[in-house]
Amino acid sequence: MGSKNALITGITGQDGAYLARLLLEKGYTVYGVHARRSTDTLWRLRYLGIDNEIRLIPADITDLSSLVRSMEQSRAQEVYNLAAQSFVGSSWNQAILTAQVTGVGVVNLLEAVRIVNPTARFYQASTSEMFGLIQESMQSESTPFYPRSPYGVAKLYGHWIAVNYRESFGMHTSSGILFNHESPLRGIEFVTRKVTDAAARIKQGKQKELRLGNIDAKRDWGFAGDYVEAMWLMLQQERPDDYVVATGVTTTVRDMCRIAFEHVGLNYEEHVVIDPQFYRPAEVDVLLGNPAKAQRQLGWSAKTPLQTLITMMVDADMARVRRE
Ligand code: NAP
Ligand code: GDD
Repeated sequence: MGSKNALITGITGQDGAYLARLLLEKGYTVYGVHARRSTDTLWRLRYLGIDNEIRLIPADITDLSSLVRSMEQSRAQEVYNLAAQSFVGSSWNQAILTAQVTGVGVVNLLEAVRIVNPTARFYQASTSEMFGLIQESMQSESTPFYPRSPYGVAKLYGHWIAVNYRESFGMHTSSGILFNHESPLRGIEFVTRKVTDAAARIKQGKQKELRLGNIDAKRDWGFAGDYVEAMWLMLQQERPDDYVVATGVTTTVRDMCRIAFEHVGLNYEEHVVIDPQFYRPAEVDVLLGNPAKAQRQLGWSAKTPLQTLITMMVDADMARVRRE
């Protein structure tokens, strides 16, 4: 195991950072596709203390030749495609960019793998957003998809092209249909982190109110640190396949707020203001995953209950705000 090379796209994101740490712990040499930005994007790798252990390759998921070079340079046997424009809310304002990065980006990387090393194992970061307007009350691998955002539509393309390369070329491509997963490394634009950060700021007198959209939406939330283990397990299977990764519990945004604010002795109802600017043109009202297949075939199950996850995030934000 110690001699394996892995290539991660999206290594500077929440999941990329946790996955990189997991693979380093397992003895992999970890390469990361690093898209050029004018701002610092390495803070998550620093937070986990692994920034000096990753070999970053300048490349972009929309640029095939840079991905071919990334495959050549890394000599990766395992490729994890986590790169995406991943914020659903932005996908209506940047629908074409989202299609190019989150959708066409997948076939770019699959082509790079096919050209350089078609035997490399490939993980695609699929999503519960593909279920959108849910067709079954609990969503499994056989539930029909009905995406509700340009992001969900782009991800659906990524999902099917990964399936297609498996069926067309016999490539070892697996998709994890992951439900929402969060952590102290979550981007501030996503609702859990927006809430935990606000609870910390309000508690420390640095913010007065928290403006949110639809707090009756329900999500199946787990901990990102648990979910990256499922990604790795998928690529260790003899046969590639698709798996739902979820907790099997769904909770409203409202109840998640209650947990976060109560943890610092506050009542969310005194601070949350409903602001229609955060409503979405088409909402995914409820998501609830059935992780039975992942449990059965991968031996994976979610370990972190929502209460533990949210209090962990609030504690991290309390410390961050105190340091500011
Ligand atoms: P994230 O924190 O938003 O990270 C996205 C990553 O993609 C960042 O490293 C970003 O780089 C990179 N990226 C964006 N545009 C790129 C481009 N043009 N070329 C190369 N890299 C680019 O997302 P996450 O929460 O870790 O999620 C990881 C993956 O899982 C995503 O594909 C997401 O859609 C999917 N997913 C997430 C969840 C969830 O609940 N977290 C659930 C299901 C599926 P910069 O830092 O440079 O912007
Ligand atoms: N972001 C945000 N901000 N969401 C809000 C707000 C707000 O102020 N108020 C209410 N919400 C609601 C959204 O309308 C949505 O129903 C829910 O909170 C969760 O929103 P996000 O945290 O932005 O996540 P998401 O479910 O849209 O998407 C995340 O999970 C997907 C998997 O289901 C992202 O990580 C996607 O990349 C991922 O695929």
